[in-house]
Amino acid sequence: MNKKITVKDFTRMKEEGEKISMISAYTYPIARIIDEAGIDSILVGDSLGMNILGYENTLNVTLEDSIRHTQAVARGAKRALVIGDMPFLSYGVSVEEETKNAGKLVQEGSCEAVKLEGGKERIDDILAIKSIGIPVLGHIGLTPTYINMYGGYKVQGRDSKDEERLLKDAKLLEDAGVFGIVLEAIPWKLGKKITEELSIPTIGIGAGEFCDGQVLVIDDLIGLSYITKPKFVKHYVKTQEIIHNAVKTYIEEVKKSKYPSEEYRYD
Ligand code: KIV
Repeated sequence: MNKKITVKDFTRMKEEGEKISMISAYTYPIARIIDEAGIDSILVGDSLGMNILGYENTLNVTLEDSIRHTQAVARGAKRALVIGDMPFLSYGVSVEEETKNAGKLVQEGSCEAVKLEGGKERIDDILAIKSIGIPVLGHIGLTPTYINMYGGYKVQGRDSKDEERLLKDAKLLEDAGVFGIVLEAIPWKLGKKITEELSIPTIGIGAGEFCDGQVLVIDDLIGLSYITKPKFVKHYVKTQEIIHNAVKTYIEEVKKSKYPSEEYRYD
């Protein structure tokens, strides 16, 4: 069996110029498939709210939802670093509460690290969670739990003031000791600049090709998602079409008594 990837490998990979591959995924069978395919890390993202639970956005996802899906992924991932995503309200209320919540996600979800969204306003949270031995992945740019502040899913860091703010946030997160930072939906030049100025890896999603790694949501990658396709999403396969056609064939065979044939019955 391949050795488990750790947060130390993230640092090493940046130093050696090896790109980091990450997928956001939520279930046991998908975790097994992508782990066996050699993915470096699986984030159990709160995007599970839209992709698994059918919510409009990530705000309805609870800590229990996150724990349940992190457990499933952890059972399937033998090599990849598993990162649990702290959902809305599981942090940002009180340091005591969020440290406990991060601990629960690790203890019950069996992940090896947690992710939370935000810049300078998250520094105390990150320090507290790290103080009990939990590695933290940062997340800046388009942070989906702030959607009501942005007025929709909009590219961030387009003007010089916002660019400056994001660069500053990235440095503050690095100083607070995160092991990496997700950069979501920002111009590629800003993704490149932040990546060059940090010694920790950046993981881009809609942040251009110069980031140290990339993350995509599995439902986007395989063409299963019903969410409007952002510019950065590449469908590597058309799963909706494949399932649709398979089910149509099944229905037809049942209607015509072609399934089950002798091969599929017990003697
Ligand atoms: O929830 C999620 O899947 C994420 C990634 C898109 C980074 O936060």
